[in-house]
Amino acid sequence: MRDVHVVRHPLVQHKLTLMRETERSTKGFRQLLNEIGMLLCYEVTRDLPLEDVEIATPLAPMQAPKLAGKKLVFAPILRAGMGFVDGMLDLVPSARVAHIGLYRDPKTLLAVEYYFKAPPDVADRLVIVLDPMLATANSAVAAIDRLKERGCHDLRLVCLLAAPEGIERFHGAHPEVPIWTAAIDSHLDEHGYIVPGLGDAGDRMFGTK
Ligand code: PRP
Ligand code: URA
Repeated sequence: MRDVHVVRHPLVQHKLTLMRETERSTKGFRQLLNEIGMLLCYEVTRDLPLEDVEIATPLAPMQAPKLAGKKLVFAPILRAGMGFVDGMLDLVPSARVAHIGLYRDPKTLLAVEYYFKAPPDVADRLVIVLDPMLATANSAVAAIDRLKERGCHDLRLVCLLAAPEGIERFHGAHPEVPIWTAAIDSHLDEHGYIVPGLGDAGDRMFGTK
């Protein structure tokens, strides 16, 4: 398998199990997604480059590491990707946010774009695309296509659950973009839902079904 990082941290796995449960409330689902977002953010930023800068502590001057380069961009795919944003911004408060509005046509399962707004210099930054569900991967592929059209080349994808079919399709289209996920589930059903999965992430987050 290409560059796929499965985050097996016990807190992530425990919280994911709670999210999968049918009885989980809308409020609980949203809160857990936010918490897992923070934990996944820790993993996806693990290798960010640092540079030493001169600072003064109360006792002495010293060289100390700070994040190097431009602020990174979180790029949630609407709606469900928004569930990761607050947790990630808690860890990286100065990050920029690019919103990518896509919905999956229920018949064709193709991604339909309805909104796109990114920082003007997005091409110069690391962009971390956020979407809890990588099912057929049509949405994630379309999001990365769009960002590449804008000149982005330093891209990562964070999801919560991935289907094997989605990973294959995603890396068929964008082989150089690494994926972070909390789990790889069994398969897609005939409606393109991840099995066992957790259902429709957007609906469960916002209570729309
Ligand atoms: C869901 C989910 C992903 C997409 C994944 O979005 O949040 O964006 O489906 O499926 P795919 O990998 O087959 O493209 P949906 O279209 O239901 O929109 P929503 O988030 O607004 O509910
Ligand atoms: N989108 C979801 O929200 N859930 C799935 O299982 C597949 C696509």
